[in-house]
Amino acid sequence: MQSADPRWSDVDDYIVEHLIGEDLVLDACLTANAAAGLPPIDVSITQGRMLELLARANRAENILEIGTLGGYSAIWLARGLGEGGKLVTLELEPEYATVALQNIVNAGLDDKVDILVGEAAGTLENLLKQAGAPFDLVFVDADKQNYAVYLDYAIKLSRPGALLIFDNVVREGGIIDPKSDDPKVPGTRELYEILKNNPKADATAIQTVGAKKWDGFLMAVVREE
Ligand code: SAH
Ligand code: DHB
Ligand code: MG
Repeated sequence: MQSADPRWSDVDDYIVEHLIGEDLVLDACLTANAAAGLPPIDVSITQGRMLELLARANRAENILEIGTLGGYSAIWLARGLGEGGKLVTLELEPEYATVALQNIVNAGLDDKVDILVGEAAGTLENLLKQAGAPFDLVFVDADKQNYAVYLDYAIKLSRPGALLIFDNVVREGGIIDPKSDDPKVPGTRELYEILKNNPKADATAIQTVGAKKWDGFLMAVVREE
């Protein structure tokens, strides 16, 4: 396993200082998450900002997130919504969802965000039955074992041209090791296999280093047909 280069975090700090700035609401979110004992596995600040900007650039009005944790990435995504936009975020753990709701209230975004508690696959099936407004952007960051399942739902629940983003798709390079002992690798490799020559979506993945070590985002756009 590669060890993190301290310059990766230093460069993240430089980026934050110049392009993002101090953000007391998000600092408070991370403090509340730590106080509640949530694992510190939120996206980094530079990644969160990227999610906000992707939502804004795509003029997203309906966003789906799978994996809320304490609501850190949800706050970023919701900030990228236009007037009247909505984020639906799915979380398995009721205790995490309670912390997330408080953080989202503190951020003044509770009118834009719905947290749905339970196994994401079941919630996604319900959303499919309701057939509401299709999503413009989907951010997948829950159990990696189910990434292939989440891809299937994400495509079914989104409009042509929608942007699908999956977190943690590099795993310090573990992704290219078919015999990896990281249990999260096979599910993520399955995601790549399904997207290989997939007629429904065009995709790439971008490797990242920084405060979250060496990892990456996979991005796919649902084909217009
Ligand atoms: N997106 C968050 C981090 C998510 S961490 C952020 O960047 O701030 C992954 C989350 O997925 C955890 O909170 C975990 O409880 C949740 N999760 C794991 N398995 C799940 C499942 N089957 N259904 C819904 N959520 C799940
Ligand atoms: C883990 C999950 C994540 O979504 C992440 O970004 C980092 C770590 C984890 O389960 O360890
Ligand atoms: Mg993640």
